[in-house]
Amino acid sequence: MENQEAPMYSMPRIGDPAPDFTAKTTAGEITFSEFNKGSWVILFSHPADFTPVCTTELTAFAEEKDFFAAHNTKLIGLSIDSIHAHLAWVNNVHKNLGVLMDFPIIADLDMKVSQKYGMLHPGESETAAVRAVFFIDPQGKMRLVMYYPLNVGRNMEEIKRALVALQTSDANSCAMPVNWTEGAQVIVPPPKTVDEMQARLQDDTIDRVDFYLARRSL
Ligand code: BEZ
Repeated sequence: MENQEAPMYSMPRIGDPAPDFTAKTTAGEITFSEFNKGSWVILFSHPADFTPVCTTELTAFAEEKDFFAAHNTKLIGLSIDSIHAHLAWVNNVHKNLGVLMDFPIIADLDMKVSQKYGMLHPGESETAAVRAVFFIDPQGKMRLVMYYPLNVGRNMEEIKRALVALQTSDANSCAMPVNWTEGAQVIVPPPKTVDEMQARLQDDTIDRVDFYLARRSL
């Protein structure tokens, strides 16, 4: 994967290669393309250390450590704070809440990673990253992007649901309907030719409303 330069406020789009970078983190220096090898990565930013909403979010990520490991997914956080601030916050949260935020957290003081990933939304803040979440597959492709403002915390259940939906879709060549959760029926991709359409209309193994709308159980 090549290191790609991006203008300050560009945003990675779904299907793009995840921009590569090397950065200082609470787990030492990390080159993203190395970190990403062989696993999914959820890269997420928070506006600032020692702030309340961010504390609830990052402890929620830490508490779901086993879930993400079981789904072959590494976590990596980011804010425009120093390593010293990160370490002090990690220690403070551990002491006060008993949760160790032991995934790497990038110290993006020069904002290079924030800029590459479109985490700076100047209408919201010129200096703090918004609450972004990037789902990057083991091939280094951007698969899903979320941006939340400073004043609204993210939904951990939705982050987990989206990850399982992406992985289940890949494994079964299907799509996920509204509000899909694990165990629910999935959408059979619509036919692309008249022959496929005719075959679909004869297929009694699926739960069919019409040729373009059919569900199946996995
Ligand atoms: C918070 O995490 O509580 C927060 C951070 C930046 C702006 C507003 C709230």
